[in-house]
Amino acid sequence: MANLLPMLRPWLCLLAAMAAVSAPWSPADALGMNWGTQATHPLPPKIVAQLLRDNGIKKVKLFDADQETLSALAGTGIEVMVAIPNVMLDTMTDYDTAKEWVRRNVSRYNFDGGVTIKYVAVGNEPFLAAYNGTFDKVTFPALQNIQNALNEAGLGDTIKATVPLNADVYMSPKDNPVPSAGRWRTDITDLMTQMVQFLSNNSAPFTVNIYPFISLFLNDDFPVNFAFFDGDATPLVDPGTGVSYTNVFDANFDTLVAALKSVGHGDMPIVVGEVGWPTDGDKHATSAYAQRFYNGLLKRLAANAGTPARPNQYIEVYLFGLLDEDVKSVAPGNFERHWGILRYDGQPKYPMDLSGQGQNTMLVPASGVEYLPRTWCVVNTNAGSDAMEKLADNINYACTFADCTALGYGSTCGGMDSNGNASYAFNAFFQVQNQKDEACGFQGLAVPTQTDPSTATCNFTIQIATTSAAHRRPLGVALFVLAQLVLNLLLLLLH
Ligand SMILES: *[C@@H]1O[C@H](CO)[C@@H](O)[C@H](O)[C@H]1NC(C)=O
Ligand SMILES: *[C@@H]1O[C@H](CO)[C@@H](O)[C@H](O)[C@H]1NC(C)=O
Ligand SMILES: *[C@@H]1O[C@H](CO)[C@@H](O)[C@H](O)[C@H]1NC(C)=O
Ligand SMILES: *[C@@H]1O[C@H](CO)[C@@H](O)[C@H](O)[C@H]1NC(C)=O
Ligand SMILES: *[C@@H]1O[C@H](CO)[C@@H](O)[C@H](O)[C@H]1NC(C)=O
Repeated sequence: MANLLPMLRPWLCLLAAMAAVSAPWSPADALGMNWGTQATHPLPPKIVAQLLRDNGIKKVKLFDADQETLSALAGTGIEVMVAIPNVMLDTMTDYDTAKEWVRRNVSRYNFDGGVTIKYVAVGNEPFLAAYNGTFDKVTFPALQNIQNALNEAGLGDTIKATVPLNADVYMSPKDNPVPSAGRWRTDITDLMTQMVQFLSNNSAPFTVNIYPFISLFLNDDFPVNFAFFDGDATPLVDPGTGVSYTNVFDANFDTLVAALKSVGHGDMPIVVGEVGWPTDGDKHATSAYAQRFYNGLLKRLAANAGTPARPNQYIEVYLFGLLDEDVKSVAPGNFERHWGILRYDGQPKYPMDLSGQGQNTMLVPASGVEYLPRTWCVVNTNAGSDAMEKLADNINYACTFADCTALGYGSTCGGMDSNGNASYAFNAFFQVQNQKDEACGFQGLAVPTQTDPSTATCNFTIQIATTSAAHRRPLGVALFVLAQLVLNLLLLLLH
């Protein structure tokens, strides 16, 4: 093999060149992106739609069916997965409501120059074990109603309903922890069996979210190299198939293939609804790791490598996600607000080549983003020692309403002294409040400044100016006033 390679090399180059010329599809065609909007200052949809186009992204997955978002996508040719949030699943168990939803959020965009909707996501990880079965009864009826409504509207051939599920709906038994032994989680085995049958009847795909990062985050003994695609991990051999696994993505995907096979649908198309790597909020959530993860993943996707159970296949994959979201729930961990391949403002974080050729290129940043003025809010070092005693309370208060997840241990702003922490927290709050004067008070502990307090690793951000930020203002003010009252009350009680 080693001796043959030099001889083959010219041929390989020629083949590569031919592939480049005839390219049946370019990898970027096939690559999808999750566009979440749980941010205090979401980028305007028009700017995001242009950002997607500038980066050659042709598929996008949403978490709702927001009208402004869909209008921005109209006429772009970008394929869209719209979604029904979990809280709406209950109402979708009524067929007329489902029909109305399809009429208003799908059919309506089905015209020349409209939106190319390809999928409706019915819920988002509704069977997550942490939900304790809350959505077990409503999800399948909702799925049936939505697909039937699509079928009745004459859209069923091109638009498929699917349920993006967390990878915790399947697993291998503890006594045989190998992919080929994959089965559904026992509490939902019947449900999954019926649902898969229904998806199959409608030629709809199974959608799964796979997170190697979370495997690493949840288990201190997890071998770090197994989260990546470099082949450096000690192989896990599956005696059922003889396959050696060197990364958890393949092992996880193939566990799902086995679970599907166990109910007679081993060939069902699988869409990876989410996969990605965060860049802050945990010791493993770094730009360097994210770059390594995507570099490996994108190369494999571009090469149509498939997985051992489904070799040499194109896999439809949606990266998670496009942008950082500063009000995403941090229940799973502080990293939740840092999944973006781009910052909150559409600026790239690290080199990334979406074409999977491993070039050291940067993504095209968002254009036309308008920022608030270059004013920060920092701790007032001239505050008296009396006031300084209230520092911790004020930091807590700021961090209740703004994102302080970068301050933790192992994060980009970790390891600062209490003044550093205070400045970071006060600024984050000040920006969320659109730099209103009264948002940089903190009982005399804070002052505005024109000097950027950022350090080499820690970014003190300036928020973007958005119209939706303006819309949110009344709520922000109400919360601000309310919280101020609560804080004052607390301080009264304490003294
Ligand atoms: C989608 O449909 C539902 C139900 O008809 C409706 O309440 C909702 O406003 C629609 N969403 C948008 C963004 O139009
Ligand atoms: C699920 O149950 C656990 C333990 O009983 C509880 O702590 C958690 O809040 C519950 N979650 C939901 C979403 O009901
Ligand atoms: C799938 O289609 C078959 C044949 O038409 C039918 O018997 C079965 O009930 C369907 N299953 C589901 C879950 O819809
Ligand atoms: C700064 O904030 C972080 C995160 O809340 C905390 O772990 C750390 O102890 C704080 N440092 C000081 C000096 O207060
Ligand atoms: C801070 O964020 C800005 C705006 O996105 C970016 O241009 C800059 O590179 C970041 N600086 C650091 C140190 O991360």
